[in-house]
Amino acid sequence: MRKVILLFAVSMALSAGVRSAEELSVDLMQSIEDTNKSLSSNIALSNKQAATADAKELTQMFAQVETFFDHKGDAKNAVDLARQSKELSTDIVGFVAVNNFESATTAATTLSRTCRTCHTFYKKE
Ligand code: HEC
Repeated sequence: MRKVILLFAVSMALSAGVRSAEELSVDLMQSIEDTNKSLSSNIALSNKQAATADAKELTQMFAQVETFFDHKGDAKNAVDLARQSKELSTDIVGFVAVNNFESATTAATTLSRTCRTCHTFYKKE
């Protein structure tokens, strides 16, 4: 009986491990969503400091998304889209630094389109 319980515990632990490795953190995506919204309004308000902070945060979060899909494997398209999002966020930091809010807006629009492209292919439901 004890052995059965132990076996059960082990298999539960294993499936939990597999689950977390296969699923992208919803919390991470929620943070990306919030930060992306904040970035858009900060660019619209020409708030240099806040827009820079948001864009830098997005760069880091998309680096995590890139790593996730890279490790997951068989998701080259997602890795590329995450990398593209990371690069767009970096570009925004650069545009905002020289007060080029027009180019920052264009890059932010492209970034939001990239979210949707990835969701179309990789987000279930
Ligand atoms: C490289 C692919 C990729 C990119 C780029 C991407 N996402 Fe996602 N996103 C996903 C996947 C996959 C899920 C589903 C995660 C899950 O349910 O486990 C998701 C889920 C979400 C969710 C739902 C979370 C929930 O509560 O269920 C939101 C909101 C979201 N993404 C926002 C964004 C925004 C905003 C951007 C762009 C700024 C973005 N995502 C860019 C892949 C991506």
